[in-house]
Amino acid sequence: PTHQIGYFVGSLASGSINRTLSKALIRLAPDSLEFTEIPIRDLPLYSPDYDTDFPPAGRALKEAVEAADGILFISPEYNRSIPGALKNAIDWGSRPWGTNSFARKPTGIIGASPGNIGTAVMQSSMRAVLSFLDAPQLNAPEAYVKFDPEVFGSDGEVRDERTEKFLRHYMDEYCAFVQRVLDANAPGHI
Ligand code: FNR
Repeated sequence: PTHQIGYFVGSLASGSINRTLSKALIRLAPDSLEFTEIPIRDLPLYSPDYDTDFPPAGRALKEAVEAADGILFISPEYNRSIPGALKNAIDWGSRPWGTNSFARKPTGIIGASPGNIGTAVMQSSMRAVLSFLDAPQLNAPEAYVKFDPEVFGSDGEVRDERTEKFLRHYMDEYCAFVQRVLDANAPGHI
């Protein structure tokens, strides 16, 4: 069966290496996954004052998360944590209280950095946030991508066989994980 994947790019930068990584992942993913970006750029900064009158951008985000079979976060690490724009988007999706759109959604977290630890600390922060939001996460494999501009073409071509194989394996495992969580969420399954 085909699964709809909503993906977040955690960077607003025009030349984002994480956007490039997202293109590579979409290329290498199994054909049964269909990808739609969930945009974060136009969201206001979340405040509980919005809870009684949710703006269209906030509603659109919640609807996109709820419509997706799985969510994939492709994000840089900012100051050893989650970029503010992405955290803001997650905060929007988690509210109003009692309507957390991420609950039980299968998620994957991946990111690229020019640095050696390849967003490892951001990913660890994300796991704490997503655990609190009751979102199951692909635990293994982990993927910490040290971005080499010679390896990644701007349209998501991957010019290194080892990297290509690694990212393809990540997406295969992500796909299998989404299926497992959907099965576990199905009515009647204990
Ligand atoms: C960074 N960068 C960075 N890199 C990293 O590996 N760990 C970090 O904690 C940080 N912190 C950080 C903070 C801020 C505010 C910026 C702007 C950048 C560098 C970062 O990895 C690099 O700019 C990437 O290119 C960001 O990803 P995108 O935007 O190109 O996808």
